[in-house]
Amino acid sequence: MIKRILPEELTLGMYIESAVFEKGTKRTADFVDNVLVDSIKKLKKYQEKGVLRYLFINTDKFVEIKEEDLKPEEEVPVVEKVEEYKPPEPEEVVPVPFKEELAVAVEVKNEAHNAVKSFMEDLKLGKEIDTEVVKNQATDMVDSVLRNDNALTSLTRLKSFDEYTFTHCVNVSILVTTFAKRLGFNRQRLERLATGALLHDVGKVKIPDEILNKPGRFTPEERKIVQDHPTFGREILEKNPLIEEDSIRLAHEHHERLDGKGYPQGLLEKELYMDSNIISICDVYDALTSKRVYKPGFPLPKALQIIMEKAGTEFKRNLVEKLIKIVGVYPVGSLVEMNSGEFAVVSELNEEDLLNPWVIIITDWRKKFVPEPETVCLGTISAGGKEIAQYHDPNILGIDPNKFLTE
Ligand SMILES: [Fe+2]
Repeated sequence: MIKRILPEELTLGMYIESAVFEKGTKRTADFVDNVLVDSIKKLKKYQEKGVLRYLFINTDKFVEIKEEDLKPEEEVPVVEKVEEYKPPEPEEVVPVPFKEELAVAVEVKNEAHNAVKSFMEDLKLGKEIDTEVVKNQATDMVDSVLRNDNALTSLTRLKSFDEYTFTHCVNVSILVTTFAKRLGFNRQRLERLATGALLHDVGKVKIPDEILNKPGRFTPEERKIVQDHPTFGREILEKNPLIEEDSIRLAHEHHERLDGKGYPQGLLEKELYMDSNIISICDVYDALTSKRVYKPGFPLPKALQIIMEKAGTEFKRNLVEKLIKIVGVYPVGSLVEMNSGEFAVVSELNEEDLLNPWVIIITDWRKKFVPEPETVCLGTISAGGKEIAQYHDPNILGIDPNKFLTE
């Protein structure tokens, strides 16, 4: 079987059929296809950063190579660089305040939603995905997150019940991008993650709606079909040469878990693509907090608790901790009720003390809106002992928290 892999996944004994080069590098005459990686020198050469983008290996020609079988180091075909490969310099992104970015973020989110909707519908009609549209959406999302990562993230809490699959893909993409930014990833990796997240559930187009939206339990046959959606996703995406393997891997592995109990492949942590667990966490977080025909959405703190219980088994602990830092125990845009009875909207996180963010008090204790909402930092003297008593779902109460954030 021919398999596309990333250079860093190459191991001794693999048989390379061909390769795809990174932009800015060229194939020299002495670079050969159909080569068995039978020495450390060859292995290192083909793994060299910034030269090859993908390798196509023939798994049927794999040869078990033991250390003692290694030949003395010999000259290997050289892949010459045109010039030292440098990833494109990211343009300066100037950070902007939350309120300023929010208006742009609303547009970005709507356009991403439309893009997902249209490629999902195209696929159902047997048409190709317009890769350029998807990639442009990913770039817009990355730009917005780089300018201010709270703006787009705050919009993930406004759930559209009707178009769950599209909204979910967009929300996961926003969360994944924010995650990646906070982890300090470069722009290229951010864009690949955003693209992979937008596309992660494409395989669902092959699952009948009556199974996808079934309110009750799945039969074993139905569960099998549902659990095949990541594989369907890979099959769809692989047909499109413009979609990078990184993004395909993210789509294929988003239901895998560190302990090997995920699906469809039951991969173990060491076999997972490096960023797959990020998308898994964001996928679960958004799914838990979303309302579906068969379940209400969990309140955010409850969803975080469920995810925290899986830290170390299904999810990487450091990533779970990061998620809590990103969305906060009470994320920006959350509607909360104070111990004094007032309603408030969380306006800014306090990274030192996630239980005590900045809030805008929007009602009095009788739940009547106040004409001039006041912003206070909980846990300080000026908050006068006010604490968050409970979290409320703004969708149920019909309050749009973002209205208070922009005012
Ligand atoms: Fe999925």
